[in-house]
Amino acid sequence: MSSKTVAVAGATGLVGHHLLKTLESRNFPVKSLKLLASERSKGKRLTFRGEEIPVEVLTENSFKGVEIALFSAGGGTSKKFTPCAVRDGCVVIDNSSAWRMDPEVPLVVPEVNAAAVRTHHGIIANPNCSTIQMVVVLKPLHDAARIERVVVSTYQAVSGAGINALKELEDQTRAVLEGRDPVCQIFPHQIAFNCIPQIPQSDAFEDDGYSTEEIKMIKETQKIMGDQSIRVTATTVRVPVRTGHSESVNIETRDKLTADRAREILRKAPSVIVQDDLAKQLYPLATSAEGRWETFVGRIREDGSHSRALNLWIVSDNLLKGAAYNAVQIAELL
Ligand code: A2P
Repeated sequence: MSSKTVAVAGATGLVGHHLLKTLESRNFPVKSLKLLASERSKGKRLTFRGEEIPVEVLTENSFKGVEIALFSAGGGTSKKFTPCAVRDGCVVIDNSSAWRMDPEVPLVVPEVNAAAVRTHHGIIANPNCSTIQMVVVLKPLHDAARIERVVVSTYQAVSGAGINALKELEDQTRAVLEGRDPVCQIFPHQIAFNCIPQIPQSDAFEDDGYSTEEIKMIKETQKIMGDQSIRVTATTVRVPVRTGHSESVNIETRDKLTADRAREILRKAPSVIVQDDLAKQLYPLATSAEGRWETFVGRIREDGSHSRALNLWIVSDNLLKGAAYNAVQIAELL
């Protein structure tokens, strides 16, 4: 691969930080790196491969000479600035939801639909964090037995809502332990010692009662798997975990899949690690997935209420496979 001029939009954020770390750890061939953020970050410097790089303010003219731009600065910023980047000949890998459902924009999880990258017209969308880890596990099971229906409930980490959300979790936890009233600024309710069934925290629910995160999981799963016939329903919940999304997933398949067969398939699946040894109390945990790029699956068991259904527990680092690592994998495909 020839060396590329790369820009990271949203470089000062949590995902931005992990994008820089992933470009370093994957030894991505970066010829030069441009770091972009808002006016608030003017004057900041970030370290990449031991070198301090100044953060520049993201503008319409930031992408001249840039070949690959990794965007993680929110949906509004992506909508506004990705067309400028494409106009200047740059390929954008966008971590926001701005373009994901656009039929012209491939939505890519390399283990599932790598070939879709070839159809891009300048923008490639990185899917929703909860969806990525789920489809990495579902794809090999779908290939083996055709999944007809998915029922998923998520237990999503606070870092998915950004740096300020993590700080709110820490501040609230301290406040509660010290007997003070927790202050809610990012989340609509106390997140410390609590679970909030509303993601994203700033979005209103749809008329049918679903949250936008739940709709993303439904629609993105069908798009990435290339199968609109898979029925998906989701309940997405924020939990007071720093990093690592966990998911309880029930799948109904056309062909019967035993738990043993599912384990065998998943042991051979790319980027998947099976952790399923009940005698040793081994199953995926957010704390052990943090900092890892793989997706972990365990508690694989046949659903006693249905002859062709399985229950799974799926965990991954939402900032890595759910965001930065998947984006860098897409850049590698390019
Ligand atoms: P900044 O740090 O200057 O606010 P997180 O999701 O962790 O909160 O990070 C969001 C990232 O997106 C940060 O790097 C933030 O920059 C960046 N960002 C947010 N809004 C804009 C904007 N309007 N223009 C450029 N960067 C933005």
